[in-house]
Amino acid sequence: MKPAVVAEIEPLRAAIADARRKGQTIGLVPTMGALHDGHRSLIEAARRQNDYVVVSIFVNPTQFGPNEDLKRYPRPLERDLGLCGEAGVDLVFHPQPETIYPPDYRTFVEVTGLQDVLCGASRPGHFRGVATVVLKLFHLVQPDRAYFGQKDAQQVRIVQRMVMDLNVPVEVCVCPTVRETDGLALSSRNAYLEAGERRLATVLYRTLIEAKRSIEGGERIAAAIRERMSERIGAVAGAVVDYVAVVDAETLCEATAIEPGRPILLALAVKFGGTRLIDNLLIP
Ligand code: PAJ
Repeated sequence: MKPAVVAEIEPLRAAIADARRKGQTIGLVPTMGALHDGHRSLIEAARRQNDYVVVSIFVNPTQFGPNEDLKRYPRPLERDLGLCGEAGVDLVFHPQPETIYPPDYRTFVEVTGLQDVLCGASRPGHFRGVATVVLKLFHLVQPDRAYFGQKDAQQVRIVQRMVMDLNVPVEVCVCPTVRETDGLALSSRNAYLEAGERRLATVLYRTLIEAKRSIEGGERIAAAIRERMSERIGAVAGAVVDYVAVVDAETLCEATAIEPGRPILLALAVKFGGTRLIDNLLIP
């Protein structure tokens, strides 16, 4: 069954109020569309844990830099609605940019520190846009639970911090990264890769796995891990390292040593031509 689709705030609020009147719990899955099995896994988790599932599809302009792919970001709406229907979504919120950001819009959310490192360093303003739209979606939908993918580990940390700092009454649920059989993390941006780049892109996950194995094998010096990761990616022609990081999973600050009881995030961003891919592994 096709889900109901609303573009405006008033019918969204009415549908939510209706679900609340029925005593239903509400799960929200924020997305930018071009849905794939990664998104589907979030929707399925929301479906299992809530009575009423809302998916937002909104290519959020404030999280794109001036030279990024806002214009060419894929927008296959009919296909997305089909996937939402199959997955049992109750309501799709698909607003126009002016609905979320009217002409005199002025308010933004910043999660200082966390927003400036890793992806934030090469995408200034990105996480300010993410935090702002996610908080707006939380206010509009007022979900009991909201679902995010570990694929975007820094986004998860930022949303968790924002929810804590601003006392937002929502449970942030984190779902594992869904991968292709060769390990490449699913991403709407994988569609930009040429066939040759697509084959080489498996280097991200292989590099992460090797780093994880080295830690399991007793490596404790973060700089040594970072160096090997960089070398590994540097050896692939056409792959350009944006960052390679071994950070504290909570603060996202650079780790110096791997210590028991201190979760580590291995993260990297690599460019293939004009396409920037990210991936990460959490070492508990
Ligand atoms: P988008 O890139 O569409 O991703 C929507 C959600 O799907 C995010 O929580 C993301 O982490 C998750 N996701 C993407 N690929 C995944 C994969 N391979 N496995 C598991 N989960 C995956 O992230 C955004 O949109 C936006 O920044 C948004 C939060 C919607 C704010 O605009």
